[in-house]
Amino acid sequence: SDYGKFGPLVGAIDEGTSSARFIIFKANSSDVVALHQKSLDQHFPQEGWVEQDPFAILEVVTTCIQKACEKLVALGGRIKDILAVGVTNQRETTIVWDRNTGQPLHNAIVWLDMRTTATIDKLLDTVPNKTRNQNYLKPLCGLPLSPYFSAVKLRWLIDNVDAVKQAMKNGTCCFGTVDTWIIWNLTGGPTRGKHVTDVSNASRTMLMNIENLKWDPLLLKFFEINKSVLPEIKSSSEVYGCIADGPLKDIPISGCLGDQQAALVGQMCLQRGQAKATYGTGCFVLYNTGDIRVSSSRGLLTTIAFQLGSKNPPVYALEGSVAIAGAALGWLKDNIGLLESAKESKELAEKASENGSVVFVPAFSGLYAPYWRQDARGVICGITEDTNSSHIIKAALEAVCFQVRDILDAMNEDCGIPLQLLKSVLVCWISWLQHQLIVLRPLHCM
Ligand code: G3P
Repeated sequence: SDYGKFGPLVGAIDEGTSSARFIIFKANSSDVVALHQKSLDQHFPQEGWVEQDPFAILEVVTTCIQKACEKLVALGGRIKDILAVGVTNQRETTIVWDRNTGQPLHNAIVWLDMRTTATIDKLLDTVPNKTRNQNYLKPLCGLPLSPYFSAVKLRWLIDNVDAVKQAMKNGTCCFGTVDTWIIWNLTGGPTRGKHVTDVSNASRTMLMNIENLKWDPLLLKFFEINKSVLPEIKSSSEVYGCIADGPLKDIPISGCLGDQQAALVGQMCLQRGQAKATYGTGCFVLYNTGDIRVSSSRGLLTTIAFQLGSKNPPVYALEGSVAIAGAALGWLKDNIGLLESAKESKELAEKASENGSVVFVPAFSGLYAPYWRQDARGVICGITEDTNSSHIIKAALEAVCFQVRDILDAMNEDCGIPLQLLKSVLVCWISWLQHQLIVLRPLHCM
């Protein structure tokens, strides 16, 4: 054969909120040949603000590529057997840069960032008939008005950052979610970078029409955003361009999906009625609804699951987004010092006596689905003199269960398509969590 010892290979860039990975798989299988992962810092310049350095995002990605390629070669593999590379990414995080210089005009505003609470308030004032209806744009984009989504973050950048205002005037401002920033840079940056995104990422901006998959003039007008700053919307599976430099030079980038949608595909939820829950910083339950755009009356999002090729129709999903899941354990570890690692939460939670009454609502960034309360804040209650750290750790784990349970109830009520399958990524404490999810209150959808 023309291939080396591992046969044909594909590469996946996975750029998440707290770390990035480059994984080299055997083509057409889930066998991992080489992998490198590196963590990524977040910055909190003010209360409720969450930022990342766009160059640091690029740096973790290129380091992971470099190191994973070195591991492949050390194992006797060949980089030239990598046929194509896909990108998956933390969604909604917003980056603006100058298309001539490639310089970011501000730090990336991360999806969890709450600075646009006042921007949302102002926007709600502009909803016709003074209804301040949070769901006013939902028929067009599938999403409620919330600081979570990119258009609101972009509006804030245009209103508040001089460099962005100037670049808008000069016509050199580029906007992108993290996929766009990575692809633009990897395909050549200022000289020949491709300014593109895929439908799944675009469906999280509030600027794409969920039906025709184009930037929508009414949405652009509502947010007063000029279309010239936006990337071209492509399907999730096509060649966007070739990598310009580094170990993967000339290899095409031929896939792009927001990370939660990629988890849906990766867990083979390709049929209508199948769903997955992924537990990371937050937790995201996505429910494949096929060619049906289910409009939620229970606070769920209508979103694009994937579009496998520009000639194929899109597949839709109903999404329940929980902002804080694993991050609650991170908070117990880093801010409160109750844990040394997320891993020990299982053992410690099991020590809690059954009669503990502690309830933990980790609404650090407001509450997402199904409540969409940007003004909510975290609370721990039900503390008695018997309460110890185990009860609080257990309550943090239960908080994840209860939030997912809320989402599943909303999905069942909304959907009319019986949930056939819920797949989840099992990491240390999650098996415990799934067990609790089933035991706490029996689910009629499972
Ligand atoms: O919508 C935000 C989501 O894409 C973040 O995913 O895995 O980085 O927490 P993760």
